[in-house]
Amino acid sequence: MFNLILFGPPGSGKGTQSDRLVEKYGLVHLSTGNLLRSEIAEKTPLGIEAKNFMDKGQLVPDEVVIGMIDNCLELHREAKGFLFDGFPRTANQAKALDRLLELKKTAIHSVLALDVSEEELVKRLLERGKTSGRSDDTNESVIRNRFSVYQNETAPVAEHYKALHKFKAIPGEGSVEDISNALSTQIDKVLERQREEQEAFD
Ligand code: AP5
Ligand code: MG
Repeated sequence: MFNLILFGPPGSGKGTQSDRLVEKYGLVHLSTGNLLRSEIAEKTPLGIEAKNFMDKGQLVPDEVVIGMIDNCLELHREAKGFLFDGFPRTANQAKALDRLLELKKTAIHSVLALDVSEEELVKRLLERGKTSGRSDDTNESVIRNRFSVYQNETAPVAEHYKALHKFKAIPGEGSVEDISNALSTQIDKVLERQREEQEAFD
């Protein structure tokens, strides 16, 4: 199995790059943001609760998103691997993910972080807000709140993966194609190392 986390602040291109990477590597895309937005669209109790947090740019409680990820891992038992997008976002979520993957006798193999300046992020999100219908993109103060939540609660999660030598930052500005190539180069290196380790083990 190959399990990847695409890490980075709001608007850094996680969703855009995920679409390409899941196709190229045959992974299952797990975006907690997308899963929550479909719950909102279906007006489920979970969606109604989550909307209150998302509209303000706050995080949805850990137990809600961890439960969603647990369900998805169960639903895709035969997957070749998973691409986690927008998860984990807190230290608790990272620990829960480690436990869930360990139960399935697997782990996170790589964490790739998209590095983008705050000025560029605001520009991208306000631009998308004109057409996306995402309530958290239209108001600059909500966007700034998402950044401060990211700095305080999510950025520290990187340390967990740095300590395990699984973390790599990738420049996230420039063409979608170039960024995608840089991510693929890094993934190919990790896959090659995985193959070598497997051969040595066999
Ligand atoms: P989520 O949906 O995860 O949103 P986010 O992290 O705020 O990030 P975005 O999806 O806005 O950006 P992205 O990095 O995917 O970039 P994208 O490719 O779209 O979360 C939303 C909310 O849900 C959270 O605030 C929270 O409330 C809740 N939530 C979600 N997960 C949670 C969790 N684990 N725990 C608790 N709460 C959770 O690109 C952005 C824009 O830039 C697009 O318009 C795109 O076309 C453009 N773009 C992309 N690449 C480039 C490029 N290279 N050059 C120029 N433009 C580009
Ligand atoms: Mg996204």
